[in-house]
Parts: sequence; C-alpha cells; structure tokens
Amino acid sequence: MRIVTSAAAMQRLALRWRREGKRVGFVPTMGYLHDGHLSLMSRTRRLVGKPGIVVASIYVNPTQFAPTEDLSAYPRDLERDKALCRKAGVDVLFFPSDAEMYPGRETGGYSTYVIEEKLSQSMEGGSRPTHFRGVTTVVAKLFNLVLPEVAVFGAKDWQQAAILRRMVRDLNFPLKLMVAPTLREKDGLAMSSRNKYLTVEQRPQATILWRALQLARQVVVSSHTPIYTDLLGKEIAALIATQPAARLDYVEFFDGETLQPATAVTRGAHMALAVFIGKKRLIDNAVLK
Ligand code: PAF
Repeated sequence: MRIVTSAAAMQRLALRWRREGKRVGFVPTMGYLHDGHLSLMSRTRRLVGKPGIVVASIYVNPTQFAPTEDLSAYPRDLERDKALCRKAGVDVLFFPSDAEMYPGRETGGYSTYVIEEKLSQSMEGGSRPTHFRGVTTVVAKLFNLVLPEVAVFGAKDWQQAAILRRMVRDLNFPLKLMVAPTLREKDGLAMSSRNKYLTVEQRPQATILWRALQLARQVVVSSHTPIYTDLLGKEIAALIATQPAARLDYVEFFDGETLQPATAVTRGAHMALAVFIGKKRLIDNAVLK
C-alpha cells in the first residue's frame, strides 16, 4: 500500500491512472477506522475489480467542525488505521495535512467553499450550521484530487450522502456515488468512531437510538393508516428520556430521497435522530419498513 501525503502528488497519480484507463474507487474517511469503514473498502474493491485501484483517505477535516466542537479530541490512530487499510486491500492511502488541503487558511489565504443550500438546512445542518459546508468543500476537493469513478459512503450519515449526491449532480462531478448499509454492533448500536468515547455506564444506554428506530418501525408497520409524526416524535422522546445519560437533540421523519419532512408517515418513510449520550452526540437513521 502506497501512502500519499501531498495533494499535488495525489492528483498526478490520479491523472496517470486516468491516462492508463484504470478504474478508481474511493472511500473518504476521517480515520479511527472500524468494521463499517472496512466494509466500504471491500465493497469498493468489488466495484472496481482487481486491476482497479482502491483509494482511501484519512483526513480529520477542520472545516466541518464548529469552533465549539472539539476537533483536537477527535480520535486518531494512524498506525492502526494503516494496518487496517492494508488488510482491507487498499492500494493508496491519501493522508494529507491541513496545509496541503487548505493552504493559507490560518492566515486568511484560503477562501473558496462549496455550499449546498437546501438539503443541508435541516437535521444535522440545523444542529451544526457550518458542518455541511465543510463536508461538501472537503469532499469536492478530495474528488478533484483522487478523480474516482466511484465513491462509497456509509448510510449512517444518510443526510451527508444525500447532500453529496446532490453536489455530484449539481456540479457535474463525473463519478458515481454509492451508499453502503450501516454496520451495527450485536446490540444494534451503529458503528462509529465516536463510540470509543462512551463510558462503561453510557455504552448500554447508547442502544437507545436503535431501540427508538425499532419502536418507530413497529408503530408504522402495525398501522393501516398514516402515523402523525408529532405524536410519534413524542413517543420517541419519551423512550429516549428513560435513559439517564441520554438527551434527544432531534428526531425527524422524512422522504429518504428528497429529505422532505413528513407530517404523517407510512412504511418506507425514513427516520433520523441525534442523541447526546453524556457529552457525546450520536446519530442514526433507518427506513421504517
Ligand atoms: O463521513 C465522514 O467521515 C466525513 O464527513 C467525510 C465524508 C470523510 C468528509 O470529511
């Protein structure tokens, strides 16, 4: 596995692959990899085949963290991540520094951002207003450096995937964006690098997100008429409140494609929620079917 740290070198390599007609698949990450990330990498390998190239990036993107969010506390373990990428069959690991990705940003010398104006207003965008501007900007830059024909993202960040799909369409990126299913622990907790911060007391309480999704599924599936989302939202809030460490940030019901909020839901609608477990904020989502 080759490790590339320079943006220019990454793009030169990608241009060479393009001239050589090689298929390139890409998995962008912020590192501290878990089985969910590794499943995206093996899926990407299946998509591009063996002569194809699988690129993964590890970059904890500062522009998607608000000043109030602790960027420096984001978990990192490069040596472990490198070993996992190697094992997952990654060909090239792109690991740029902030200076490579945002030259001059600290001194006001970087001033171009990509903004999606509609889908990024609700849910995560409501709670973290500058977050998606950082995500779309860094992913657009990564796409321009890696030049993939396919990029694979996890369904746990459903809104992120919808926004990036819109960006790919609106800005004519010549690639296919794929979304792979969320991997879960045995008790249903969605895999996430942030789970590492949960204490022994908080860890079992964190399954409340999954239990809330299950509850909504049961309610919707067992009803022959649409369920009003304000009532269902109250049921979910009451369930979350049973856990002493949990505090609901939001629960939303919406169309999985357009992210359009729903006032009443039937099977096939989508639900997403964000819950603080202690100081850590976890997100999850599922189709209600
Ligand atoms: O989902 C993530 O890990 C990040 O938001 C991404 C897509 C790698 C951009 O920094």
